[in-house]
Amino acid sequence: VKYFSCAVNMLLLTSAIVLAIGASAGRAQGTVTIPADDLIAARQAGMDLQYALMGSIKRATEGSFDAKLFKDAADGIVAWGKAIPGLFPVGTERGRNTRALPPIWSDRIGFEKAAAGLEAAAQGMAKATASKNQADLTSAYQATGQACSACHKTYRAR
Ligand code: HEC
Repeated sequence: VKYFSCAVNMLLLTSAIVLAIGASAGRAQGTVTIPADDLIAARQAGMDLQYALMGSIKRATEGSFDAKLFKDAADGIVAWGKAIPGLFPVGTERGRNTRALPPIWSDRIGFEKAAAGLEAAAQGMAKATASKNQADLTSAYQATGQACSACHKTYRAR
């Protein structure tokens, strides 16, 4: 378990770095310029990390893990939900191998709603880990997974 939570912390650290890049790229003033390919690589890496975090939380729903250990992972996903819109600025519609679809820019409100949906669902996980309620964690985990898929269905190419 020690090794495991250390791995989660490393994931979170990487997430934080990705988030910092995203935050500066999303600023309206354009004080920082990042090549589209680099931002796309960062958001894809961030998404991959969410997948890894979800995998670790899934184990917390299945086994005898102390749910409290996974609060950091849940909080990380909450923060990611907040950060997503800023990682898809105009100018990153194309580049690298992006699977981002045009509705991200033509239906911005819907995209932001989908990101807020992830944030809210992950908040449910954070609450459940804090209260050590494994049944609540399981249903919040499922809701979070659905929030991931709901966005991918409309805004990500298969
Ligand atoms: C608001 C929309 C949205 C939400 C919510 C969202 N994603 Fe994504 N995700 C995307 C988009 C768009 C892409 C494509 C990014 C690109 O290729 O530029 C993507 C890509 C990915 C990828 C592929 C990354 C790669 O290496 O190419 C994974 C894995 C992923 N998401 C996992 C998740 C998980 C897990 C969650 C939930 C915890 C989640 N996503 C929530 C929009 C979303």
